[in-house]
Amino acid sequence: MRAELPLPHSTSVITGASSGIGWALAQQLAYRGHTLYLLARREAPLLACLETLQQHYPRGNFHALPGDLSDPHQRHDVMTRLTTALGTSPVGAIIHCAGTGMPAASIADWHPDDLSDALQLNAVAPLALINTLLPCMTPLPAPCRIVLVGAGIDRHVQPGTGSYGVSKMAMRRLFEQLREELASQPAEIALMQPGVVDTPGLRRHIRTARAMKLPHADYLQAQLDTGQAFSADTVGARIATLIDATTTQDTFSGREWRTAEIDT
Ligand SMILES: NC(=O)c1ccc[n+]([C@@H]2O[C@H](COP(=O)([O-])OP(=O)(O)OC[C@H]3O[C@@H](n4cnc5c(N)ncnc54)[C@H](OP(=O)(O)O)[C@@H]3O)[C@@H](O)[C@H]2O)c1
Repeated sequence: MRAELPLPHSTSVITGASSGIGWALAQQLAYRGHTLYLLARREAPLLACLETLQQHYPRGNFHALPGDLSDPHQRHDVMTRLTTALGTSPVGAIIHCAGTGMPAASIADWHPDDLSDALQLNAVAPLALINTLLPCMTPLPAPCRIVLVGAGIDRHVQPGTGSYGVSKMAMRRLFEQLREELASQPAEIALMQPGVVDTPGLRRHIRTARAMKLPHADYLQAQLDTGQAFSADTVGARIATLIDATTTQDTFSGREWRTAEIDT
């Protein structure tokens, strides 16, 4: 980890901040001087991440808010803690990285509760987060930049990927809807499609999908084995660039971004 930059630049809220893309992004934004509100499901890994950032950036301003964002009661509690911690501070960026989608070996094994959980985390939670933070979005110094992390599976139907794919498709539609709904707000929104990224979550998913004999497990493993997957650090850095770049609203907002399209 590099030495910190001298001045805080912005306040950012990241979900899924304790692992994979979200954690890589948190480290990038900490380096860039952002005040960070870090959200993830399990408390212990999130606090370990918080401690790591505090050790490397002792002048940084970092907060951890654990809680299961797919559970309506826990989500409400996290949102309450978040607004209490933020007060009236403007929020410069919101990045929803937390995501889930349990595979299923067959239609008989596709539990409706898995789809429900995925919809809660991948579509309902980002709406709840954005609604909660509306009062913290201000036109100055710049409109709040919101990034929803989607997945290419939304439009690529494959066996066993229903909960993940349907819920990421719901996220895509949420993005399109929010693009309209936020037009009157000091906010800009983009959808990020990271591609295949080497993360603990992906490796866990491959193990589960392989045990279910789902064909996409081999494809994903081959992406890792042949070095074609992005590293989480690469994707985290690209999202950080997307957030901090001083481009006009037109170039960030309303767009779907892929990792390879973002210049570092
Ligand atoms: N990796 C890829 O190849 C890939 C490809 C396309 C899209 N994506 C998307 O990129 C995002 C990040 O994926 P990743 O691979 O970096 O995942 P990851 O390594 O599994 O990290 C997921 C993060 O989300 C948190 N999270 C999971 N469920 C949660 C819940 N119910 N409430 C709150 N936080 C929760 C996790 O916390 P806990 O560990 O405590 O649960 C963790 O911090 C996801 O939206 C995923 O769909 C990933």
